[in-house]
Amino acid sequence: MFSHIDAYPGDPILGLNEAFGRDPRAHKVNLSIGLYVDDDGRLPVMRAVREAEAAALSDIAPRPYLPMAGTPAYRDAVQALVFGEDRAARREARIATLQTLGGGGALRVGADFLKRYFPDSTVWISDPSWDNHRVVFESAGFPVQAYPYYDDTTGGLRFDAMLETLAALPRHSIVLLHACCHNPTGVDLTQAQWQTLAPVLRERGVIAFVDMAYQGFGDGLEADAFAVRTLADAGVPTVVANSFSKNFSLYGERCGALSVVCASADEASRVFGQLTGTVRANYSNPPTHGARLVARVLGTPALRRAWEEELGGMRERIATMRAEIHARLAPHLSDDAAARYIGQRGMFTYTGLSAAQADALRETHGVYVLRSGRMCVAGLNTRNVDTVARAIAQVLTKS
Ligand code: LMR
Repeated sequence: MFSHIDAYPGDPILGLNEAFGRDPRAHKVNLSIGLYVDDDGRLPVMRAVREAEAAALSDIAPRPYLPMAGTPAYRDAVQALVFGEDRAARREARIATLQTLGGGGALRVGADFLKRYFPDSTVWISDPSWDNHRVVFESAGFPVQAYPYYDDTTGGLRFDAMLETLAALPRHSIVLLHACCHNPTGVDLTQAQWQTLAPVLRERGVIAFVDMAYQGFGDGLEADAFAVRTLADAGVPTVVANSFSKNFSLYGERCGALSVVCASADEASRVFGQLTGTVRANYSNPPTHGARLVARVLGTPALRRAWEEELGGMRERIATMRAEIHARLAPHLSDDAAARYIGQRGMFTYTGLSAAQADALRETHGVYVLRSGRMCVAGLNTRNVDTVARAIAQVLTKS
């Protein structure tokens, strides 16, 4: 019956992460998957999460099915975090927000929902984008095309070319944007560029689908939400997928949310209803535990302060690691190429290493970066940064 089924070629990120797990070399370094680890190379359990978890343990509650849209406390706290407590769209009840299975689940629920109501649209992703964006939207039945984004020669943004392409899209096109800490390049739009882009998208009658997986890892929780809030304020129909995998270090709990900014409260309530139907058709309703922790942290002032402070420390550690690797690689690279390590933001740097160089780095030195050249800077620490820099320098010399 199943003899015609091809072998799965594997996922470029998760596959490499699994290969890392199987690699027996003691000195191996994982800079492939987007995970934040501390200076000891461990996934942190954040202080606020630990406290929320302890409180949850002393108050063991029943686990009923949650509503299809998730718990109201979680949905409200997330909406306030993403859009700002006093945003007009929020005050006017124009945002439909659902709890989802991480950011990936939000993307898929959003994609399925949009496919039903905009069956002829094309999805436009940045060139390049997170590998799974294309997979999710194609799996939902959309054709996917790419708009110009990363400038390989400068390590910056091709903003004019991006704008020109987006300004010519047909109505109802869906434009996937990264709110901050662009994955995989680490290159973001400036605030002025978002302000230029928003009215263009509004005028074209396109839908902005914003992926915000790294809120707090760029310039801070508020600054990183600038894109989302600018688009919402400009009246662009905006869909937002956000995730707490990274900024709560709750990867396996699959805590995320999907929000759709609508023109009126009535529209939002119909969108909300149809989104819950989309959830029912996928997985019925989301799980309880992780969302309970997130809601407790966001809704308890002392825990919230502790979380924000620790997140700030994680952001600073990444910046330090960028500076450390930059200092070690600067003698081996052109000024432009070296500058990328400190200029790009968030967890990732697009190193410019070729697939063959990434293979050599992995095979010869046990240093894992994606074959696209993406490095997870958050995997560097004071003990492995020398090894990694030496390995990169050797690979560069040999090629
Ligand atoms: C990544 O880009 O490495 C992360 O978002 C993990 C994933 O699922 O790909």
